[in-house]
Amino acid sequence: MHVAIIMDGNGRWATKQGKSRVEGHRVGSEVVRELTIFASKESRVKTLTLYAFSTENWKRPKHEVEFLMRLLGNYLDKELDTYLENGVKFRAVGDISKFSSKLQNSIQNLEEKTQHLTSLTQNLALNYGGKDDIVRSVKRVLKSGDEVSEESIEKNLDVSYPIDIFIRTGGDSRVSNFLLWQISYAELFFTNTLFPDFTKEEFLNILNRFETIHRRFGGL
Ligand code: IPE
Ligand code: IPE
Ligand code: MG
Repeated sequence: MHVAIIMDGNGRWATKQGKSRVEGHRVGSEVVRELTIFASKESRVKTLTLYAFSTENWKRPKHEVEFLMRLLGNYLDKELDTYLENGVKFRAVGDISKFSSKLQNSIQNLEEKTQHLTSLTQNLALNYGGKDDIVRSVKRVLKSGDEVSEESIEKNLDVSYPIDIFIRTGGDSRVSNFLLWQISYAELFFTNTLFPDFTKEEFLNILNRFETIHRRFGGL
């Protein structure tokens, strides 16, 4: 199954403890590592797509954006062994051309060194917007000369497989421009847990609840 998570609530988690918002992002990145390892061992999960930075998140204060970029760079450089040891193939999705060339190199390096791994594919959504994904896909279709169709658009999206389970932490029930096309028949799970407090036990609980759902896809 393909699971997508909007990792929301880092800032509020930190503020609640009298810490600066960015401390929430730091702890959130540790949760990303734990969930990645868990998902690599959970045979039902084949792909895990995580929302780390949206096309709208550039609106945040400069120091927070800069912290997130530094955190991302450190994470990509430090976690190679985690990916190798757990058989996780890393892919960035989103328009990464807006990032510094150093960050783009770190992304490319982790993608190349893990491309042969098969326990789990992890897509990290970076400067990702669902609308932007669709626009870039349609442009690719037109450039290729193919007919515009559901199949050709889907094939050219950054994330070309449908989502089965869509999770948002942090208490809000909105999609915030994540995977708009791909969630057409996803099962949606909203939890009040702030992302730094999200555990593999809660993740497992959602996977088990998903299995009890009868998906009709418009049929009976
Ligand atoms: C999600 O946590 C992480 C990013 C968007 C980078 P937030 O930073 O949105 O945390 P809240 O929602 O303000 O608590
Ligand atoms: C969504 O969270 C983006 C990520 C988790 C990366 P936001 O905090 O940016 O979403 P809004 O602004 O509450 O909709
Ligand atoms: Mg938020």
